[in-house]
Amino acid sequence: MSKGNVGVLLSGRGSNFASIVRASRAGGANFAVRLAVSDQADAAGLKKASRFGIPAHFVDPKRFPDKAAYERRICELLEREAIDLVCLAGYMRLVGPVLLGRYGGRILNIHPALLPSFPGLDSQRQALRHGVKISGCTVHFVDAGTDTGPIVAQQAVAVRAEDSEESLSRRILRQEHRLYPRAISLFFSGRLQIRGRTVIIRE
Ligand code: GRF
Repeated sequence: MSKGNVGVLLSGRGSNFASIVRASRAGGANFAVRLAVSDQADAAGLKKASRFGIPAHFVDPKRFPDKAAYERRICELLEREAIDLVCLAGYMRLVGPVLLGRYGGRILNIHPALLPSFPGLDSQRQALRHGVKISGCTVHFVDAGTDTGPIVAQQAVAVRAEDSEESLSRRILRQEHRLYPRAISLFFSGRLQIRGRTVIIRE
């Protein structure tokens, strides 16, 4: 079976990246992770990639005249590895027109809330402050907005009265690690179709 090629963009810890790699190495997986790229030199995710034997690149945005040039460099790396799907995993930048132009409809992101609630930063804190009883995580296609693209999959997580930001984040993260590989697998199954805001999943 030929496998889909995944490239991951990350800025930090890289626990989602690691869960995606582990899932890709389990029997029967329909994708392989070929590349990790970070905008942060000290991202722990880059070290994880090296330990997995996956090519890992730091691309310093400061070394480029503008975002377009920075993203062109990222596109070069993605194209070199024949990447089919770009997965953002804790990538702390908005995707610009260059990446969207070349990989539109082929970029996923994971967000630690049930979108469209609590987009942007500190979603778990936002959820606790709002007093919701259920939060969770969302995998969505990326568009030009912040966490606004068509939703592929969501997993609910109950909020407990005694939850702190840390405890809620930990339980949501555990679900992120299951949801993201499942969404990637669905993408490569060819059963996803984006119709307007809606992602149709064919049986
Ligand atoms: C995750 O909570 C993800 O949902 C959000 O950023 C965090 C990244 O964590 N977008 P990690 O780097 O994957 O451990």
